[in-house]
Amino acid sequence: MAHTIVIFGASGDLTSRKLVPALYELHRKGRLPEQTRIVGFSRTKLTNEAWREKLAESTAHFVPGTFETSVWETFAPSIFYHAGDVGQADTFDSLRGCLDQLEAGSGATRVYCLATVPRLYEPAIARMGSAGMADQRRGNSRIVIEKPFGTDLPSARCLNQALHQVFAEQQVYRIDHYLGKETVQNVLVLRFANGIFEPIWNRNYVDHVQITAAEALAVGHRGDYYDQVGVLRDMFQNHLLQLLALTAMEAPAQFEADAVRDEKVKVLRAIRPLTREEVFTDTLRGQYRKYRDEPGVAADSETATFAVVKLQVDNWRWQGVPFLLRSGKAMSCRTTQIVIQFRQAPHMMFEGGPRAAYEANRLVIQVQPAEGIQLHFHTKVPDAGMKLRLTDLDFTFRDRFTGTMPDAYQRLLLDVMQGDASLFARADEVELAWKIIDPIQAAWENPGWPPIALYEAGGWGPPSSTEWMCRQCREWFDSCPMLK
Ligand code: BG6
Repeated sequence: MAHTIVIFGASGDLTSRKLVPALYELHRKGRLPEQTRIVGFSRTKLTNEAWREKLAESTAHFVPGTFETSVWETFAPSIFYHAGDVGQADTFDSLRGCLDQLEAGSGATRVYCLATVPRLYEPAIARMGSAGMADQRRGNSRIVIEKPFGTDLPSARCLNQALHQVFAEQQVYRIDHYLGKETVQNVLVLRFANGIFEPIWNRNYVDHVQITAAEALAVGHRGDYYDQVGVLRDMFQNHLLQLLALTAMEAPAQFEADAVRDEKVKVLRAIRPLTREEVFTDTLRGQYRKYRDEPGVAADSETATFAVVKLQVDNWRWQGVPFLLRSGKAMSCRTTQIVIQFRQAPHMMFEGGPRAAYEANRLVIQVQPAEGIQLHFHTKVPDAGMKLRLTDLDFTFRDRFTGTMPDAYQRLLLDVMQGDASLFARADEVELAWKIIDPIQAAWENPGWPPIALYEAGGWGPPSSTEWMCRQCREWFDSCPMLK
């Protein structure tokens, strides 16, 4: 079956950094369906040859270990370029003509990737509609839309409406690249392909869940964008809530797009939105000290680069189990982890007696970069009476499997071509996520609600984060896993 991937925003960063390298890798591994064409669309005037050359250079840069000129030469002839302006209706007619000509009536499945700046999403969608590009009588047409999906609930709703005027929901693939990560999909496998975890995966055994997405990098050259967005919109509305939903959801009956997404949606619906008072007590925000000196950032910016949010999932499984979400830039290291912190053993008969403070068991899912899973449990220290120590069973993908972890876009683009939307967010899912984030963002518009705490780069956020956790009678699991 022939496929045409049309990339809007072809001269942008996402195209050269993620989309084309992922397609190249799929081609190199022999997984790209035969007769797949890639058509770039952007304002810059370029010939096919000139675009291919640019992409050869950028792809060699972004997949240095696996780039081979001979492989590229077999891939490059399937790449084409069409110059045009999303702002002009007639360019869509000419793009459509160009696609029809390339496909020569093969009925190819078309995948339109919106990799432009977000303000062009709606005009591009409307013009695709007027040019008849969503029409499925010719062959399948699908649209891939990148984050950010709106900036709040009203804008996300508008974007969904704009999409649905042209495309049916089944044609829409909203990307959250975290869902394309192997270790994120492995949360489902860990939970639902093993019999031993589900019986204890609930309020009877779990004390709380911590989800941390820490980044060592600061905002760098993205100050312009980031200062308008901040950490809540950038990381929580999408990636962290997706991780929460996968951790908390019930088992779907099948691994199938609607079955999986129905269960995630039930979790998002069960999350209690925070009241204004709760935003003060149950969230924290911080900004790293040099943030205001970054290019593109306002000198008096109040944008948070770090946040903690405590959420409750109001259902039978999770009642009373807090989900503690934390993310920040300029932190100690890059690590994304989900910590299932179990309750303490009900009675301790060893050293210190029943009231001694022992660390409880925890399961740590390392999403990245040291992909793996650790189970922390007590063991007896040999030759030391009945002294105990917390130790761990340590599984890493690197130890057990060969090859490198594929970039999320490889799986996601292949799934779109195959028409599998399991790893994409549905319209109701993104709207529900905004319903959780909007009240926090609205309360944060008030200075001091809660105060924005400055923090030094290279740590675990502001000291108030540790103090806050102490008040919850809990402790952050601050660890930078070693990359073996
Ligand atoms: C993006 C955010 O969605 O995710 C970035 O816009 C962030 O600010 C990035 O750095 C993190 O992704 P990853 O895959 O590096 O964890």
